[in-house]
Amino acid sequence: MVSVIIPAAGQGRRMQAGCNKVFLTLGGEPVLVRTLRQFARVPAVSECIVVAGAQEMETVEAMLRAADAREGLPSWRVVAGGSERQYSVANGLAACDKKAEIVLVHDAARPLIRPAVIEAVIEAVRTTGGAIAAVPEKNTVKVVDAAGRVVETPPRSALWAVQTPQGFRRETLAAAYAQAAADGFLGTDDASLVERLGAPVAVVESDYQNIKVTTPEDLVIAEALLKAAQEDR
Ligand code: CTP
Ligand code: MG
Repeated sequence: MVSVIIPAAGQGRRMQAGCNKVFLTLGGEPVLVRTLRQFARVPAVSECIVVAGAQEMETVEAMLRAADAREGLPSWRVVAGGSERQYSVANGLAACDKKAEIVLVHDAARPLIRPAVIEAVIEAVRTTGGAIAAVPEKNTVKVVDAAGRVVETPPRSALWAVQTPQGFRRETLAAAYAQAAADGFLGTDDASLVERLGAPVAVVESDYQNIKVTTPEDLVIAEALLKAAQEDR
C-alpha cells in the first residue's frame, strides 16, 4: 500500500498572486487538483493526504469535492499544515494509514509530474528503501561565500537538481522525522532527513517538465508544457 502526502500549506509568496499559488488555474483546473489527478493515474496509490493551511482547510475541501464530482480523484483527506514545509509534511505523515509500507511526498506545486516517474520512484523505494526524482543539473553551479567570492566549482556531472516525489518506507521516514524534530534540524527536502540516518536514497531520473510552480513565469511555462503534452497524445 502506498500513501501520498501532498504539502499545499504554503503561502506562495514568490508567486505574488495574493492567494496560495496552488489555487491558481492551470489548463482550466486549480494547480492542486491537477497534481492530484496525476496520482489518480497510478493504481498503486491508495490514499492522498493533502496538507492545507489551517485557515484554508475548508477552501481546499470544497475545491477537492467539486473536482472529485467532475472526475474521480484518488481517495483523499485534508489535514492542517504548519509554518514550514517540514512541519506540514510531519502532520501529513502522522495522518497516513499505518498499513502503508511506502509513503511518497509530492509538492502540490508540481502539477506536471508524469505517472511513469511516480511509478519509477515507487519501484526504486521497493528495492532501495528511499528514492527521489531528480534531473541532471543543466547549469554550472558555484559555491559562494558570504562576501560574494567563489569558493568552489563542483563538477557538474555529479550534480542533480532534485524534485518530488520523494518516497521512502513509511517507518524509515517516520524515524527520520522524529530524529529531525529531536535535533531541531530543518532540512530543505525530505531525503535530507533520511540521509542523516545513514539510510540509502536512490536517484530516479525524472524530466525537466516536472517544474515547481514558484514565480509568475513558471505559470506561463507550465501552461505551455501542458499544451505541448496534450498535443502529443
Ligand atoms: N508548503 C507547505 N507548508 C509550508 C510551506 C510550503 O505545505 N509551511 C508546500 C507548498 O504549498 C508547496 C510545497 O510545500 O506545495 C513547496 O513549497 P514552495 O514551493 O516553497 O511553496 P510556498 O512556500 O507556498 O511558496 P513561497 O516559498 O514562495 O512562499
Ligand atoms: Mg516556501
